[in-house]
Order: sequence, then structure tokens, then C-alpha cells
Amino acid sequence: MSSHSLPISSLLALFFLVVLTRVPTILSVDDPRYSICRGTLTCGSVSNISYPFWGWNRPSYCGQTGFELRCENDITEIMMNENTLRVLDIDPERQILKVAREDYWNGYCPSKLINTSINYDHFNYGLNLRNLTLFYGCYSPITPTFSVFTNCTINSTLTDMSYATRNMLSDPRYSICRGIVVVPVYDAAAQDLEVNLMTMQAALRGGFELQWEADNDKCRRCRDSDGVCGFNETSNSFTCFCSDKPSETTCLPPTEGTF
Ligand SMILES: *[C@@H]1O[C@H](CO)[C@@H](O)[C@H](O)[C@H]1NC(C)=O
Ligand SMILES: *[C@@H]1O[C@H](CO)[C@@H](O)[C@H](O)[C@H]1NC(C)=O
Ligand SMILES: *[C@@H]1O[C@H](CO)[C@@H](O)[C@H](O)[C@H]1NC(C)=O
Ligand SMILES: *[C@@H]1O[C@H](CO)[C@@H](O)[C@H](O)[C@H]1NC(C)=O
Ligand SMILES: *[C@@H]1O[C@H](CO)[C@@H](O)[C@H](O)[C@H]1NC(C)=O
Ligand SMILES: *[C@@H]1O[C@H](CO)[C@@H](O)[C@H](O)[C@H]1NC(C)=O
Repeated sequence: MSSHSLPISSLLALFFLVVLTRVPTILSVDDPRYSICRGTLTCGSVSNISYPFWGWNRPSYCGQTGFELRCENDITEIMMNENTLRVLDIDPERQILKVAREDYWNGYCPSKLINTSINYDHFNYGLNLRNLTLFYGCYSPITPTFSVFTNCTINSTLTDMSYATRNMLSDPRYSICRGIVVVPVYDAAAQDLEVNLMTMQAALRGGFELQWEADNDKCRRCRDSDGVCGFNETSNSFTCFCSDKPSETTCLPPTEGTF
């Protein structure tokens, strides 16, 4: 008899163990938007991508308009107006996005001449930047301050090309140029370029910083309350996904909840 009582009591113990541990999780199934948006993205060297960014495995409600990322052959990209920008780094603590012009990654003779333009609704240029000015088809070297004269083949046409590390657009001589493109680089890179410590390619690849704004303070408070930042596409406003349901502000601890 005693040989039977042991398995039965073990079974009962197991039964209660299962019931006691499973019931709470069964009763509180996480809001799928909370679970989905909690997931971060990785593409090539850029990892831990979270709000306000979204794309591939993160649906649009996990981020904000203007922060969609693409992952092409392990290269993270963001579109801004006509520019495709290669994402080099994302610093969520400081809200800094480090990018470089994709069309200038492999040379300074792109097939289409496009100025740098950012989405001012959400971004601003970071600090310590300087505008590099690239001149195409000016028929003569542009010499003031610092400039290099070289050749470019664009659309199988040879074009002279020069660049300057200072903004010289007020100089009327540039009106004869076929094209002028302004690309920001780090001020330190521009200085190194001036003394030939760096190539223009390296300066362009070094990229530039953008500061973003996407309900930064609201998101910080939401995260501090164990929420996951997101966006309500119906009301077009910030939302904080909590494990049970979304909140406009933060996830209140259960004891403070109003029932
Ligand atoms: C990922 O980013 C979050 C903020 O978005 C930060 O708190 C966390 O420490 C980061 N994790 C790693 C592994 O870098
Ligand atoms: C090169 O050709 C393309 C396609 O015809 C055109 O869109 C582009 O503007 C041309 N680039 C330059 C610098 O003229
Ligand atoms: C780029 O901007 C500069 C200064 O605003 C302007 O002179 C130039 O024509 C622009 N270039 C193109 C390709 O739009
Ligand atoms: C570079 O030029 C753009 C306009 O083309 C301007 O908005 C930006 O402030 C300039 N950046 C610097 C560092 O001068
Ligand atoms: C640009 O190309 C022309 C024609 O091939 C050549 O005569 C000239 O020396 C080149 N200029 C530079 C700066 O390389
Ligand atoms: C989004 O906002 C609408 C309108 O304010 C609201 O009815 C809905 O519950 C909100 N959805 C989420 C996911 O917060």
C-alpha cells in the first residue's frame, strides 16, 4: 500500500505545483504589442535598435513616422527626403543617430548630384560638424581657404571636381559650376582633411551626427515604469505599451491602479 501512496502524493504535489505556477501566467497573457515592440533589431554592426526606430521585425506602431530603417546586405539605412543615409551608430541614451551618405560611400562621383537634406520634423544636425562643399564642372579650381582639384567621371563624362572644407557658397564664381553638393562631416575630419591627414573618402565615410526628437521624455518615463515605447497610429500620438494594455503615459504598478 505504501508503495502506492508515494506516487499519488508526488502526483498531487506535481499537480499543485503546475496549477500554482501556471495559473498566474494564464490569467495575464502579455499584450502582443508589448512583446513585439520589446524586441530590438540588429543589422550588421548596428544592434539594440529600439524605439523610435522600426522596420522589418518591428511594425510601425513600435516607432514613429520618419524612423523607418531598412537592412540591405547587413547595411542599416534610413531614407530622408532624397537621401539614402547609411546608419553607422545609434545612441538611444543621447538620442544621436550617426549616418553617412550612401551615395558617397564608394567615391565622390555619384551618378546623381543631391544635396544633404534631413527631416527637420524629427532631426537636427549634431554638434561639431562642418559642411564640406563639393563642386562639379566649374572648369577651374576653386582655391580659397582649402580646396583640391581633381577629376570625376559621371555618367561616362569626365567632369572636373573640387571640394572645400569651408562654406564658400556666397562666392559668385561658383555660379558657373554645373553642380554643387553640400555634405556635413565632423569638424575634426575637415581639419584632418585640410592638412592631408585624412582622405576625403575617409571624411565622408566618417559620417555626421543627427540629434533626434521623438517624445524623448515621455519614452524615458514609460521605460522607467517597465513599459515599451510605441506609437498610436489612430490618435497619432505616443503610447506606452505595458504588459497588460497600452497607456498614454506610464505603466502604473498594480497597487496604484484604479479599479
Ligand atoms: C539597449 O538599449 C537600451 C535603451 O534603448 C539600453 O537601456 C540597454 O542598456 C541597451 N543594451 C545594450 C546591450 O546595449
Ligand atoms: C546622370 O544620368 C542620370 C540618368 O539619366 C541623371 O538622372 C543624372 O542627373 C545624371 N547625372 C549628372 C550629374 O548629370
Ligand atoms: C545644394 O545647395 C547649394 C546651397 O544651398 C546650392 O547652391 C546647390 O545648387 C544645391 N545643389 C543641388 C544639386 O541641388
Ligand atoms: C550646412 O548647410 C546646411 C544647409 O545646406 C545648414 O542647414 C547647416 O546648418 C550647415 N551646417 C553647418 C555645420 O554649417
Ligand atoms: C583631368 O582630366 C584631364 C583630361 O584627361 C587631364 O588633362 C587633367 O590633367 C586631369 N586633371 C586632374 C586634376 O587630374
Ligand atoms: C489609440 O488611440 C485611440 C483614440 O484615442 C484609442 O481609442 C485607442 O485605444 C488607442 N490605441 C492604443 C493602442 O493605444
